[in-house]
Amino acid sequence: MSPFQKPEQPPDQRCSEGDVNVSPRRRAWAVQNLSPETQQLLEEDAKYFLHQSLSTPCLSALKSCRGAWIEDVQGHRYLDFHGNNVHQVGFGHPRVIAAIKQQIDTLSFCTRRYTCEPAIALARKLAELAPGDLQRILFAPGGTSAIGMALKLARIATGRFKFISMWDSFHGASLDAISVGGEAMFRNGVGPLLPGCEHVPPPDHRHCPFHCGEACNLACADYVEYVLDKEGDVAAVIGETVRCTPFIPPPDYWARIRAACDKHGALLILDEIPIGLGRTGRMFACEHYDAVPDMLVLGKGLGGGIFPLAALVAREGLNVAADQALGHYTHEKNPVACAAGLATLQVIEEEALVEHSRALGDHACQRMKQMAKRHPLIGEVRGLGLLMGIELLRDHDVLTRASEEAEQIMYAALSRGLNFKLTMGNILTLTPPLTISQAELDQAFAILEDCIGEVEAAQRS
Ligand SMILES: Cc1ncc(COP(=O)(O)O)c(C=O)c1O
Repeated sequence: MSPFQKPEQPPDQRCSEGDVNVSPRRRAWAVQNLSPETQQLLEEDAKYFLHQSLSTPCLSALKSCRGAWIEDVQGHRYLDFHGNNVHQVGFGHPRVIAAIKQQIDTLSFCTRRYTCEPAIALARKLAELAPGDLQRILFAPGGTSAIGMALKLARIATGRFKFISMWDSFHGASLDAISVGGEAMFRNGVGPLLPGCEHVPPPDHRHCPFHCGEACNLACADYVEYVLDKEGDVAAVIGETVRCTPFIPPPDYWARIRAACDKHGALLILDEIPIGLGRTGRMFACEHYDAVPDMLVLGKGLGGGIFPLAALVAREGLNVAADQALGHYTHEKNPVACAAGLATLQVIEEEALVEHSRALGDHACQRMKQMAKRHPLIGEVRGLGLLMGIELLRDHDVLTRASEEAEQIMYAALSRGLNFKLTMGNILTLTPPLTISQAELDQAFAILEDCIGEVEAAQRS
């Protein structure tokens, strides 16, 4: 029997998007590593902020960030392989900072009803870079808001209200975004969500309910078409081109869904908020697939890791809502954010970060594959450019997620200067800045391998 047909333990739903911030291991790490001054700051944070998962109570307190590194208030430096995926150009890139400073001194805000040169320049640049006829832009102050605009535009353009999206996906934390998102931690306990949102299994061959395993026959893509057909009036399919865990869909996945959308009159919306702008080794992840979406959603690193900035990039034919408000966000054309965005795209091009991400990603993949041969805890390694994941399994036959071990490894790595997050409990999710050097990357993998080895040795003894 194929291992993919054997039962597997379901993931702890609290861990789908990141590690748990109130776990006993978190508390133990804090006791060992945090100074009284840091603990005081965390207590103040916990006093004033609403507590929520993945945030307050916080891990530690930061003092500075530069390039691939973050530094806490105790002076400990960490290679940041999480960075909330805002750090394509690294933290505090001098070019981005200079553009921001220059813009602040001239036009620091653009009142609604006016436009401004930086906003137009950034929109023009995105339209030039985007594939196909993705030419029409709307900016928003965050990715979730841009997703909301995409959903509204899909409804208006098609006259339909239904969406198909993936279980386990994330598109933001607002009520509309969690309606199409697929994580229980965000969806449970908040009452009715948007009607007409159907979910399908994600293209995750290892945990695929269609059991096709390594010999994937794209049953999950065909199931999207099945639902499109049954519903008959779906406005759009929305998905993360590559889930940031990462789940890397097979090469034909999006082309098959694109064709199914065209056949059934549905639009295709691809969310590349954490993975666009070079992270996967292409400027946009959809360029790995032979499919151009009707709408592409970008965010996070678009603001250079400094400003909140997101963009909806839609095809020309979707300029159909002139008498309605799609976004209407106060910071829709914020000149400082747009100057940061333009400088970011220039840095990505001039420093050849897309090519660097591809080359270093190949190197990292080789390294992870070698690690997998040496470490039985590693169930699978995955990577596309500098979007990487190491899935830990306790028992490869029954796919038991090694979540305890993953948490141990994460805190051990943190104590040695490497910061990353976990997804689904057992996946070490690794997303360094695209500016990282090979030496820094190797340093991170050396730390990781030591920590994995230590946990395995402790298990043996
Ligand atoms: C795939 C994806 N979509 C949407 C969002 C929401 O973006 P924001 O936090 O900027 O609202 C995120 C944030 O992590 C994301 O990873």
